[in-house]
Amino acid sequence: MRHQYSLEYARELDSHDELRSYREQFYAPYLHGKRAIYFLGNSLGLQPKTTQEAILKIMDGWANLGVEGFFLGDDPWLHYSKHITPHIARIVGANEEEIVTMNHLTVNLHLLMITFYRPTQLRFKIICEAKAFPSDQYAFRSQVKLHGFDPAETIIEVHPQPGSELITTEDILATIAEHGDSAALVLFSGVNYYSGQVFDIPRITKAAHEAGANAGFDLAHAAGNIALKLHDWDVDFACWCNYKYLNSGPGAIAGAFVHARHLENEALQRLEGWWGNKLNNRFKMEPSFTPSPTAESWSMSTSPLLLLAAHRVALEIFAAAGFDRMLAKSKRMSEYLFFVLNHIREQNKKFTIITPQAEAQHGCQVSLSVHHNAKAIFDTLMPLGIFADWREPNVIRIAPVPLYNSFEEIFIFADILYQLLND
Ligand SMILES: Cc1ncc(COP(=O)(O)O)c(C=O)c1O
Repeated sequence: MRHQYSLEYARELDSHDELRSYREQFYAPYLHGKRAIYFLGNSLGLQPKTTQEAILKIMDGWANLGVEGFFLGDDPWLHYSKHITPHIARIVGANEEEIVTMNHLTVNLHLLMITFYRPTQLRFKIICEAKAFPSDQYAFRSQVKLHGFDPAETIIEVHPQPGSELITTEDILATIAEHGDSAALVLFSGVNYYSGQVFDIPRITKAAHEAGANAGFDLAHAAGNIALKLHDWDVDFACWCNYKYLNSGPGAIAGAFVHARHLENEALQRLEGWWGNKLNNRFKMEPSFTPSPTAESWSMSTSPLLLLAAHRVALEIFAAAGFDRMLAKSKRMSEYLFFVLNHIREQNKKFTIITPQAEAQHGCQVSLSVHHNAKAIFDTLMPLGIFADWREPNVIRIAPVPLYNSFEEIFIFADILYQLLND
């Protein structure tokens, strides 16, 4: 489609956007009395206007019923996952039994690695992307040390080609083939946090399995952002946070996936807690653990209802908007974003678009490497009402999301960037 570089044209695109009213369902920061352009859905999604009421409802239940809120009232908390699991299953492409909502992302990564990273003297390596999110790197190294191995020999990182920030699928598959005999786990992100590059989860998973290793994914930047089919792709496990694209609040409760084919494997090791018991055994206080037949068997502690309430209403907005429609809008927004960025780059080559522009290789986020005065340009954005994100040494990341961003905002951002680059 041939686009135009003008405010009128961007507004025209907005006028055809069937999701445009969803923007009003979120609070947004205001600057000088004007709604800011919030391009940080890849960091902390905006607050749905329904969140506070949902949390208050739990508070009311607590006030009026005390602990009996778990069992009584019009919506007993014990069954609260029914408000969450079906939505999340749809978003990540899973069966409901494969989903558990618990803890936080790094914690879940550790818990799932306890199960799926079981190194032996022959098979012990973890294959991952270079410059994985630091928390993941710490998790990998500490797990390796926990098992008595040396991280330097055990963690095999796949690097971008020289002069590029992107890692090719061919390099990933070649590394898996090269280390296949000694690989225990292949663990990548779904979307790299720095570059915005989408990794080819089905091909990586297939290659890992052919090599005899498990395949796991950190979907922090993928869940709610790109189409996923974790079950069909045969992924062994995955985990994600819900505070980015899923708008469930700062420090939101996180999600995890364990493939159905593992759920009945009694030989699997996991760390156990009472909340992972089968529901009808959970309060029998028996000394033995009777795992839930679902991924909930990985959960250990009492459900945090205040966090779940925030998560629930955020997911209800996804369900009402329709994830397919959101993905379609996201695709149109990215197309327009790349168009305006390429347009200003033609006039001014002072920045490079790091994120791959091929449709299958990006989600909402676009990372820009700014060649001169990068930090000064970034620091000017916020006072001008644009919330973007900075990554050292010179990268500005923005993520226009389908639920609350507009084509007009994309145009305004590009035009301001153009002026700042020319100053
Ligand atoms: C890719 C990735 N992994 C892990 C984390 C850490 O998440 P948490 O602080 O919820 O454990 C983040 C946080 O932004 C992330 O972006």
